[in-house]
Amino acid sequence: MIAIACDHAGIDLKPHVIAVLEELGLPYQDFGTNTHDSVDYPVYGEKAALAVASGACELGIVLCGTGVGIGIAANKVHGVRCVMCSDCYSALMSREHNDANMLAMGARVVGSEVAKMIVRTFLTGQFNGDRHARRVGQLMALDAGETLQK
Ligand code: RB5
Repeated sequence: MIAIACDHAGIDLKPHVIAVLEELGLPYQDFGTNTHDSVDYPVYGEKAALAVASGACELGIVLCGTGVGIGIAANKVHGVRCVMCSDCYSALMSREHNDANMLAMGARVVGSEVAKMIVRTFLTGQFNGDRHARRVGQLMALDAGETLQK
């Protein structure tokens, strides 16, 4: 299950993201918003992030004007590693090296075709493990309030 959420500035990109999910045969849960009425992106970023953090959804995709605000909001939820991407290389590395579990994109930044390529890349990327697992473990230690400093 893939969590998807957006604010009013990200809403026009959502159908394009959903088209990729359908193309890949991936079920999704849409946490809104579903109108162009102005809403606060942290509310929607948190909705999708909570679904990912709880395990109800394996991965999440969040959209706002820039991808920045809703991505920051998602990253405030423990267990979430949300990456803001405007290019496919970063999307792939975020999965292979960082085991990212959420993708944020900006509807005012990336066009729909680029966004679709980023989504395909993110969803099909696989974590490489090995030394990257140690580093992701360190990220999770920081997330848990621990320090990495001796
Ligand atoms: C809304 O105008 C805009 O601020 C929001 O979508 C997002 O870009 C914030 O980071």
